[in-house]
Amino acid sequence: MYKLIALAVLALATLPAQASPDLANKSKCMTCHQVDKKVLGPSFKDISAKYKGQKTAEAMLADSIVKGSKGKWGAIPMPVQKVSPADAKTLSKWILTL
Ligand code: HEC
Repeated sequence: MYKLIALAVLALATLPAQASPDLANKSKCMTCHQVDKKVLGPSFKDISAKYKGQKTAEAMLADSIVKGSKGKWGAIPMPVQKVSPADAKTLSKWILTL
């Protein structure tokens, strides 16, 4: 019985962690980003390292995703992404956990 509960808790805990990479794939983020390697855009881990611990990071990154970003990482700008503000928030929250 306890084993079952532990398994259920584990399943629940791993679900949201999986949902965000899927969302990033579906939202085509991975054409320009990878979790731990720079492609066209900075790696999500580098982004996380740069902003982690800043109180406004989550909102600020969500804003960058919805409106696009330029001049923060290099010469290549990120165009406006076609994601809902809610999805952008989920994605920025996930990036900051990396
Ligand atoms: C066409 C390529 C491209 C796509 C698609 C793309 N990005 Fe980016 N992204 C970039 C580039 C280039 C930068 C660096 C922009 C800069 O220097 O300000 C960047 C920067 C970022 C940043 C950092 C912004 C900041 O304020 O420092 C985040 C977060 C981010 N991308 C998330 C995403 C997410 C989430 C998606 C999918 C919804 C996505 N990107 C899709 C190219 C892309």
